[in-house]
Amino acid sequence: MSTRRISSEKARSLAPGSDHYTAYVGPPSDYDYMGATQFRLLCALGLRDHHRLLDFGCGSLRAGRFFIPYLLPGHYYGIEPNSWLIEEAIRKEIGADQIQIKRPEFSHHDNFDCSVFGVEFDYIVAQSIFSHCGVDLVRKGLSAFAESLSPNGLAAVTFIHPDTPQEVRPADGWTYPECVGHSPESVYQLIEGASLHGQPTSWEHPRQTWWLLSRDSKRLPDADQELALMGKVLNPSK
Ligand SMILES: C[S@@+](CC[C@H](N)C(=O)[O-])C[C@H]1O[C@@H](n2cnc3c(N)ncnc32)[C@H](O)[C@@H]1O
Repeated sequence: MSTRRISSEKARSLAPGSDHYTAYVGPPSDYDYMGATQFRLLCALGLRDHHRLLDFGCGSLRAGRFFIPYLLPGHYYGIEPNSWLIEEAIRKEIGADQIQIKRPEFSHHDNFDCSVFGVEFDYIVAQSIFSHCGVDLVRKGLSAFAESLSPNGLAAVTFIHPDTPQEVRPADGWTYPECVGHSPESVYQLIEGASLHGQPTSWEHPRQTWWLLSRDSKRLPDADQELALMGKVLNPSK
C-alpha cells in the first residue's frame, strides 16, 4: 500500500527515500531541521529578499517553505524532477495562496540545466544532491552552476566525505536513496575543473559537509567571516 497519503506524524517512522513527501528527501524526523538550517545558512551568507535563489533539487520544499515567503515575488526558483514532491508540499505545507502571491518558478527536468529560467542567480543551494551523484554528475552540476551563478554569486552545496578511501563509491550516475562519497581532494579538483572557487565550511550538518562555491575567490568567507558564520564571534560565550 502506498504510504504517500499517511500523516506526517505516521511518516516519521518511515525510512529515508520512502514514498512520502517528508521521507523521500531524507530522514522524516529531520524534515523541519534540514529546511530551517538551509534558510539560516543562506541568511547568514547575506541572502536578502531581492536576491534570486535557485534551490537545485528542491524536493518537497523542505527549505523552500522558508525561502518562498521570505523572498520577493518571482525570486525563488526550484528544479526538481519529481514534481509530486512539490505538489504534496503545496498541499500540506505552503498552500496555493502562497504560490499565487510569491510566484515561485519550478522546472521538472533532470538534465542539470540551470539556464532554463534565463536568470543569473545570486545564490544557489544544493542540499544533499552531490551526495547522490557520481563524478560525472558532480562535474555536470558544477559546470551548470558556474554558468548560472552571477559573477558575485555564492553557492552552498553539500558533499559526503567518507572516513576511509574504501568508502568512496565512484559509480557514475544517480544513486538513491543510498549515498555516494567524494574525498575533499576530489571535490577541490572538480570545483577547479568547473572554473569555480570553493572551500568547505564548518556550518553544522548532521551527516554531510557544507561547501561554499563562487566564481570570484574574494566572495568566499575569510577566516574571520567563517568564525562569524559559526556564531563564534556573535555568541562568544558559547
Ligand atoms: C536528498 S533529496 C534533497 C532535497 C532537498 N534539496 C532538501 O534538502 O530537502 C535529493 C533530491 O534531488 C532530486 N533529484 C534527483 N535527480 C535530480 C536531478 N537530476 N536534478 C535535480 N534534482 C534531482 C530528488 O528527486 C530529491 O528530491
